[in-house]
Amino acid sequence: MPESSSLISISNVKKSYQLEEIQVDALCGVDLEIASGEFVALVGASGSGKSTLMNTLGCLDRPTSGSYRLAGKEIVTMNRDQRAQIRNERIGFVFQNFNLLNRTSALENVELPLLYQKGLSRTDRRQRASQLLDRVGLGDRQQHHPGQLSGGQQQRVAVARALVNEPSILLGDEPTGNLDSRTSRDVIQLFGELNERDSITIILVTHDPDVARAAKRQVVLRDGLIVCDTTDFNESLEALRQSSTLQNDAAENSEASQNA
Ligand SMILES: Nc1ncnc2c1ncn2[C@@H]1O[C@H](COP(=O)(O)OP(=O)(O)OP(=O)(O)O)[C@@H](O)[C@H]1O
Ligand SMILES: [Mg+2]
Repeated sequence: MPESSSLISISNVKKSYQLEEIQVDALCGVDLEIASGEFVALVGASGSGKSTLMNTLGCLDRPTSGSYRLAGKEIVTMNRDQRAQIRNERIGFVFQNFNLLNRTSALENVELPLLYQKGLSRTDRRQRASQLLDRVGLGDRQQHHPGQLSGGQQQRVAVARALVNEPSILLGDEPTGNLDSRTSRDVIQLFGELNERDSITIILVTHDPDVARAAKRQVVLRDGLIVCDTTDFNESLEALRQSSTLQNDAAENSEASQNA
């Protein structure tokens, strides 16, 4: 992959947490290149480092060492304000629990990020938010409050809100984690459309095989390292299966040693 096409370039990224005497190594030297327009699923067992990597990608958190270049700019040496700025310009986030304001209409929820944008009139904001709700198939639900919407609809409102600043990258940590399989299908389809039709780069952390399958590339983490990076969904399943076998073996071994 030529370097110029890399939107995201992560090189030897490590992240450690110090908890009193114990150091937890959440990322142990991750290399990852993602080009503009890709649709990537990050998968792996619980504790393998997916959210840590996602928070790094989203410029929410800084790695302990290594390099992260986003659109050619080094993030690791940026301060908090600089990171916030690049985040606002480039990245939209979707969360597992939607993070919508409950006593506020779908329209107002989507409008919210625009309040921080100077030079945009109230009418402009309304119009932009309304267009995005149309885009996610909720044109007829603009005045509904989150509690009056299904889980899948709430997540689509959250997707519309994530897109309102026109980011080039959409990140999601378990975006279908709170949805049943039928409603999550709509949300998965929406991600696919946004990637195909609007060329938005999408990176999702997921435990949901249907989400991982919908992505065009699967990246498997184990113990803070990428152990498989593939465009063949079945290959990622196999790598995941091996990870969980290893984990079970390790658990059995430690149980056995405790019982010994
Ligand atoms: N703030 C923190 N302080 C200390 N350790 C942390 C912190 N955040 C994460 N960790 C540890 O880092 C490792 C990776 O955590 P992470 O949240 O990235 O895992 P994950 O793959 O997202 O797991 P899950 O699927 O359960 O969400 C875990 O061992 C976790 O306990
Ligand atoms: Mg996580």
